[in-house]
Amino acid sequence: MRILSGMQPSGDVHLGNYLGALRQWVHGQGPESFYCVVDLHALTLEIAPDVLHEQTLNLFATLIAIGIDPDVSTVFVQSHVPYHAQLNWLLECVTSYGELSRMVAFKEKSERQEGYRVGLLTYPVLMVADILLYGATHVPVGDDQRQHLEITRDVAERFNHRYGETFIVPVGVQPRVAARVMDLQVPTRKMSKSVSSPLGTIYLYDEPADIERKIMKAVTDTDGEMRFDWEHKPGLANLLEIYASFSEESPQDVAARFTRYGDFKKELAELLVASLSPVRERYREVRADEARLRSQMVSGARKAIAVAEPVYERAARAMGLLQI
Ligand code: AMP
Ligand code: TRP
Repeated sequence: MRILSGMQPSGDVHLGNYLGALRQWVHGQGPESFYCVVDLHALTLEIAPDVLHEQTLNLFATLIAIGIDPDVSTVFVQSHVPYHAQLNWLLECVTSYGELSRMVAFKEKSERQEGYRVGLLTYPVLMVADILLYGATHVPVGDDQRQHLEITRDVAERFNHRYGETFIVPVGVQPRVAARVMDLQVPTRKMSKSVSSPLGTIYLYDEPADIERKIMKAVTDTDGEMRFDWEHKPGLANLLEIYASFSEESPQDVAARFTRYGDFKKELAELLVASLSPVRERYREVRADEARLRSQMVSGARKAIAVAEPVYERAARAMGLLQI
């Protein structure tokens, strides 16, 4: 099993990112795991250069603070490995305009931006390159990335069919609960970095008082019945999944232990504060030592290049590019 996943340094990490993706990264870590801060992807939407720079360091520090050991797994920044952009080009020539323009994420994001960047359309191809370069078999991501995983499989299979067996065809992996954490105020919309209500998103580094306030004010329903039911009680179901994800129970079992929403919310807030406070403290320490972060980036990039280079060369050769 070979694992690869990536996250954009495009904003503060929230509970959806943590439960949907990052906790799976921690569980899956080992010498066969590759975790990447995808800074090139962050350029597909408007982002100030100093913000991108800062957030790349922040996200790298977060990966270490949540428990990924860069001496065990390979942790690196996408743009430090030139083969991502290079393989991206080769794969753009194996992907059709039609399949990219049908991507849901593209449709949503392009509607929100006038004169959107071409990179927003070709975004999934770069993600395909990220994954295929490392021969990943498993890609831990949240539910919203399913379509991107499908196109990854399609492009890999098409390439293999056209140019001979070159790439491993990966599968996506989602956590059993909390694969899609919803906005606490609008539980029919996913918790997100870009569109969200101020009270709807819990950030990984929120202060305990903010976490409590957001949980206590989370939208539920008026029938007062503690039951796990996404269709009729999405607000409560979302909170139950969040709880179950931290306590490693099933949401149904959590629901059965409580009778009143208020008591449940209070315990959920305590559980979140107790689980996230150590991460917040570790983050402060890790982020403060920038020289160390930079040297970890250098060794991560070296390890990543050693794996990506031969895969890129094999793909280039297969397509007929002349080697010297
Ligand atoms: P993004 O915030 O789009 O950069 O996503 C980074 C990672 O977090 C991806 O693996 C997403 O699938 C995951 N993710 C983002 N939002 C959520 C959410 N609300 N619930 C679960 N996973 C999420
Ligand atoms: N598209 C992913 C997201 O928005 C980020 C990403 C880029 C990624 N490259 C990847 C995820 C490779 C998994 C594997 O979250």
